[in-house]
Amino acid sequence: LFYTVVTGPSGILEMVLVAPINMYVWFTLLAGLAFLPAIVKTLFPYLFHDCVYILRAICFGLRIEIYKRKTPFYSMVDGFGDAVRKNPHKTLIHFEGKTYSYLDVDRESNKVANALRKVAGLKEGDTVAVFLGNEPAFAWTWLGLAKLGCVAALLNFNIRSKSLLHCFSCCGAKVLIACEELCGAVEEILPALKEKSVSVYIINNDSSTEDIKGIRQAITQASDDPLPRSLRANVNVRSTALYIYTSGTTGLPKAAMVTQERLWAASFFQGLCGVTSEDVFYINLPLYHSAGFLIGFTGCIERGNSFVLRRKFSASQFWDDCRKYNITVILSFVIIYATITIIIQRNNDRDHKVRLAIGNGVREEVWNEFLSRFGNIYVMELYGATEGNVVFLNYTSKVGAVGRDNILQKHIFPHALIKFDIEKEEPLRNAAGFCVPVTPGEPGLLVARITTKYPFVGYAGNKQLTEKKRLRDVFEKGDLYFNSGDLLRIDHENFVYFHDRVGDTFRWKGENVATTEVSGILSMVDCIEEANVYGVTVKGHEGRIGMAAITLKEGRVFDCVNTCSVVTDYLPVYARPRFIRIQVRFTGTFKMKKVKLVEEGFNPAIIQDPLYFLDLTVKKYIPFTQENYNSVISGEIKL
Ligand SMILES: *[C@@H]1O[C@H](CO)[C@@H](O)[C@H](O)[C@H]1NC(C)=O
Ligand SMILES: *[C@@H]1O[C@H](CO)[C@@H](O)[C@H](O)[C@H]1NC(C)=O
Ligand SMILES: *[C@@H]1O[C@H](CO)[C@@H](O)[C@H](O)[C@H]1NC(C)=O
Repeated sequence: LFYTVVTGPSGILEMVLVAPINMYVWFTLLAGLAFLPAIVKTLFPYLFHDCVYILRAICFGLRIEIYKRKTPFYSMVDGFGDAVRKNPHKTLIHFEGKTYSYLDVDRESNKVANALRKVAGLKEGDTVAVFLGNEPAFAWTWLGLAKLGCVAALLNFNIRSKSLLHCFSCCGAKVLIACEELCGAVEEILPALKEKSVSVYIINNDSSTEDIKGIRQAITQASDDPLPRSLRANVNVRSTALYIYTSGTTGLPKAAMVTQERLWAASFFQGLCGVTSEDVFYINLPLYHSAGFLIGFTGCIERGNSFVLRRKFSASQFWDDCRKYNITVILSFVIIYATITIIIQRNNDRDHKVRLAIGNGVREEVWNEFLSRFGNIYVMELYGATEGNVVFLNYTSKVGAVGRDNILQKHIFPHALIKFDIEKEEPLRNAAGFCVPVTPGEPGLLVARITTKYPFVGYAGNKQLTEKKRLRDVFEKGDLYFNSGDLLRIDHENFVYFHDRVGDTFRWKGENVATTEVSGILSMVDCIEEANVYGVTVKGHEGRIGMAAITLKEGRVFDCVNTCSVVTDYLPVYARPRFIRIQVRFTGTFKMKKVKLVEEGFNPAIIQDPLYFLDLTVKKYIPFTQENYNSVISGEIKL
């Protein structure tokens, strides 16, 4: 017996082998073993989830390492090629009643690449601005560009004029590819583009004017032969693959650089969440954002599954689409767009196959209500910025948490929550000049150490902004951290919660709005002297809606028509200030604090200043009455 004990493979087995001496002990131990899982579950309720997640994360980490070591580098396009060979006739995209298989998309992207090579002379390393709507052409245009080794800058199709020009110039693109619907927006900035000798191509139109060339015919006639790999021979793991624009804390949109490595890492999210090749993914968010493009589109390529693409989010079509296409995975960001009350009430709420929702930023109450209505959907909340170097994923489906901090997480993304001075809007420093970690459960600013493995590549063409996101001498002299700009909270069970975003940004309809950008536009209005822009909460809505406190120039009255036309011409819908309060001209040092303005919101009963509301039906700002206020609160006036 003792001999057996020594060779027993595990502690438990050894004890069992000793036990037979006494039947009673045998019994107790067996019973104990039977209860072991229950005991473990009570003591470590998330052990199983932690293990599954850590294992998956390790697998994906290894894959990136393997891809890196392959020569030539195995990029996302190579991954797509393999997906095509494996399952050529599987549907990749469902769009407006049509389906496109992996092979269809592959051939189409070859045509685009061959045509662009010939017509525009594109070659490896060129940056191309992509200004397309949510349509299948987005997919094959990007793939085509990637096959040529080009870098794509994904322009937000809601932006216009100054912002559009800014996005275009900061990535240094010499070519712009647009779709016909966005031709008008391109024409507005055409003189400026011409000055920079930028070539403009319209992908789905032939009747070419002199400065905008249609290339539909060129694409139709181009060969669909695969492109030789030598065309992108120099692409490696550190090459920039994409620019994705984010409105961070201040100013105009910033072009976050997405490297080839980051592209792979982001595409692994679906896998980390347990999505399989059998799943059908729903992309009803813009492809120019990380959620739609990285998690959705490239994630589907990595998994080899299908996705349903929509031009525009539609709350009323949401569940119909889910039923029609047997959608199993959704982006939970959509809940931000459509609070549950808007997703139309029906009695077949639970008649759908959606099993998983991936995303972030949804309030706990909203989720609970959502789940109680639409049934058992596993929620995977994640936290991460396109440009950031730290990511959390709530893989245990704990409602309200954006993620979970575990040993692996602490090891691969060294990070900390530090005390933050809200008044001064900067991290608190102790007498020695170093930052102070918060106590568990207390909200703090998330900072993540910048390492060669997890770098912060920064923003294209903006050294100053990149530097602003870097925080030095955090815990010791000379160390370097990424300043996320977000206040998070980590509880005693290691769940991570989103608390607030610092600085001059608010979120509305799932988009970040930079207040300085909006005040810049408002200051273009003739009568306005100064504008203070902020977001206010509205009962029953996620995020904050735009509001501005303005002062008028000496002797001027508020021009409610002109203000409306400037705002609608230059700002996307989500960024427009829906409420404007007119303040008396500030004298000397008196200037109302934003905190106070936000607190007062848009209730005419509280605010003494004249209050206006943007009414698009009459194309002007109209006085906002208590009656209007009640209609907004009751949901009668849609925001
Ligand atoms: C192509 O675009 C031009 C504007 O650039 C427009 O005038 C024309 O109608 C479009 N052609 C077609 C076939 O729609
Ligand atoms: C959805 O699933 C049903 C039954 O499983 C099947 O009959 C139908 O064809 C599927 N629809 C699509 C679009 O795949
Ligand atoms: C995290 O995931 C768990 C399990 O799905 C879920 O119950 C919980 O609500 C999630 N937390 C958040 C903040 O969404």
